Amino acid sequence: MTFLNQTPFKLVFSVFVAWFLYAAIRLVRYRRFYKDLPKPPHSFLWGHLKLFGEIVAMYPPNTHPQAYYTSLSQKYNLPGIFYIDLWPLGPSLLIIADPDTASQVTVLKSYPKHIENANFLSPMVGRNNIASVNGSTWKLLHNMLAPAFAPLHVKNLVGMMADEVTLFRGTLGRMSQTGEVFSMEETAGKLVFDIIGKAVFNFPLNAQTTGSECLRDFKEILKMVVLGRESWNPLTKARASFKRKAAIKRADSYIDDKIRERYDYLKRENIEVTKKNALSILDLVLRERLQESRQMAEKDSAAELDPDFMELAITNIKALLVGGHGTTTDTLCFIYMLLSIHPEAMQHLRQEHDRVFHSDISTTHSMLHDSPHKLNELDYTTAVIKETLRLFPVGFGIRTPDKSSTLTYKGRLFPIENQMISPCQHTMHYNPAIFPEPAKFDPERFLREGEVPRNAWRPFERGARACMGQDLAVDELRVILLLTVREFEFECAGIKPNEKQRCAWTDMDLRFGDIVFQELGLEAKPRGGMMMKVRRRV
Ligand code: HEM
Ligand SMILES: *[C@@H]1O[C@H](CO)[C@@H](O)[C@H](O)[C@H]1NC(C)=O
Repeated sequence: MTFLNQTPFKLVFSVFVAWFLYAAIRLVRYRRFYKDLPKPPHSFLWGHLKLFGEIVAMYPPNTHPQAYYTSLSQKYNLPGIFYIDLWPLGPSLLIIADPDTASQVTVLKSYPKHIENANFLSPMVGRNNIASVNGSTWKLLHNMLAPAFAPLHVKNLVGMMADEVTLFRGTLGRMSQTGEVFSMEETAGKLVFDIIGKAVFNFPLNAQTTGSECLRDFKEILKMVVLGRESWNPLTKARASFKRKAAIKRADSYIDDKIRERYDYLKRENIEVTKKNALSILDLVLRERLQESRQMAEKDSAAELDPDFMELAITNIKALLVGGHGTTTDTLCFIYMLLSIHPEAMQHLRQEHDRVFHSDISTTHSMLHDSPHKLNELDYTTAVIKETLRLFPVGFGIRTPDKSSTLTYKGRLFPIENQMISPCQHTMHYNPAIFPEPAKFDPERFLREGEVPRNAWRPFERGARACMGQDLAVDELRVILLLTVREFEFECAGIKPNEKQRCAWTDMDLRFGDIVFQELGLEAKPRGGMMMKVRRRV
């Protein structure tokens, strides 16, 4: 009797054959799905794995994937929607690079958020965050928070923003005296954190002055998430997870205290919070609880602020602090970076600021307190912000179909089941058929009548799930630019321009080096902290 005839071996062998057949059938099934679909060159064995790997390798480490999609789209001249097959290592991606088609899934109908949004955000802020949830939880949160983000309410915050910028100007002034190199991401980040902190809590977080524990904890959380995501070493992963949880605990307990403090105060003083008079996002979050407590009367606040409510409140306050802070800081960094090589844009900005406000900065500051709506007259400034967000979109979201969803492109129905649907603003923003000379910084394109097609500019996405903070972010950036660009010149420090363009869609790396390839953090952030020097204008 030979070894081959032994029963255990036969069993193992047949199980192996069965598994192999099963895998082969799955492979055939998966790969055939893509047969008639728009896609980059597809291999039966690899799907797009090999090709995708080659694209990834073109870029510096941890580049935000939006750059990969733009490369694929341009290199293979792909249509407005295309598929990427990463089976068995990754999901099947359906990239939408056509604005009207993106509107099908975000505006005409708002597809639910893909579970990967939640998987991505929850290690940082918790599961039930407004940017990831669907259905009734989302509605509840949206209705709760929307009044805080209404354009009129945001204009009430403009004076506060201007006051915070005074501290930032002081810091820039000191940097200009010493001539030192500093991280704009870090310095501007503190300013933006103080502003968003005031908007959320209506009390100072003092990141710019004494330093904020809360900001340090958020930074630690993000750092540990990235470390855990990138490391293959289980020990490193475990340590990162441990440290992340410790930082989350500290941040949560800080926010928990603030919520209870404010709740007790509003109750004790018998202050009725309305949608109109709410001083902060926190007040809006507490509004219904206060109303209920009045109706029920005579219950202690510990019971009213039940654990479910507190969890939801803490998660979403964190989501706003974290989400609103990084995105706006990144955008400001890219604006200063672009302005550093565009003196003509600087000149236009300064002229506009003198004309619409006042040539004197402190007069400008008081005007912001008295007539914040004048910000809406800053057309060129707004165009600079828009053009920067076109070149460097920082936010990204993915959708999933529900049962009744369909997707048509050029009159044809496309399969969407089990697809990770990714409207990719970056690819649209770099499409020369939509934005001529897409790699060029040209703010005026937004001022030339009818040049930018409706729908095509989507850094805040559009539709029901569009960014809630967009008016806040744009007003904040306007205020910061208005109060800084006339006083300072900005210069990038330590840049290493690339000798050869890394990819076809931008030549900006010939000027700035790899910092133009946005890094995947919580959002698409600047690489290397945006090191800068500032000079005071004389
Ligand atoms: C320049 C700055 C900002 C950019 C580029 C930006 C971008 C975005 C994008 C693209 C989305 C949608 C993601 C998706 O489709 O899945 C989003 C969602 C959101 N953003 Fe922003 N954002 C910015 C600033 C802010 C600020 C300052 C806040 C508020 C503090 C904020 C609050 C939100 C919220 C609450 C959502 C979720 C909305 C929902 O799902 O209903 N954002 N943001
Ligand atoms: C949102 O809805 C989609 C589709 O029903 C689902 O796949 C996803 O898991 C939901 N997200 C969350 C956070 O529950």
